[in-house]
Amino acid sequence: MTRAIYPGSFDPVTYGHLDIIKRSSTMFDQVIVGVLNNSAKNPLFSAKERVDMLKKATEELVNVEVICFDGLLIDYMKQNDISVIVRGLRAITDFEYELQIAQSNRKVSKETVDTVFLTTSIEYAYLSSSIVREYASYGTDVSDFVPEFVVEKLKKCFRISEA
Ligand code: PNS
Repeated sequence: MTRAIYPGSFDPVTYGHLDIIKRSSTMFDQVIVGVLNNSAKNPLFSAKERVDMLKKATEELVNVEVICFDGLLIDYMKQNDISVIVRGLRAITDFEYELQIAQSNRKVSKETVDTVFLTTSIEYAYLSSSIVREYASYGTDVSDFVPEFVVEKLKKCFRISEA
């Protein structure tokens, strides 16, 4: 049984993340979506809110579980018998950073973990949580980027009421 983890900030979850989660859920026995609880990043949504949004967005995927972790990813993986990290690659600009993390995680874990990269579906190649936050903060409609209940959460966050 291969357990994989898809780690990230998910602040908030986007259709790009959901695309990677759906596709990886067909490739592994179990996919754990790992929400990083890192206050240093000063997220818009709390870790609990990010976990709850992801749970709602993935409720139909039976082999997907959403958890929150802090500390080193490879420590969480070791403690929970997870051997594969899933990451999405949007463009060449992602590659250098992702390659560095993948290689260091492999080295530090003494080669017990590997990273599998999925290329983001082309329709989400430009998409990121920070772009969503930026547009939403100006009241722009982001319903092409995130599920409707996330749109509503963003509106509340930025106190934007319906015109
Ligand atoms: O969505 P993000 O912010 O690009 O995700 C980055 C993440 C969570 C994958 C990365 O920061 C991470 O794994 N953090 C946990 C701490 C850790 O293991 N650090 C060592 C490698 S950077």
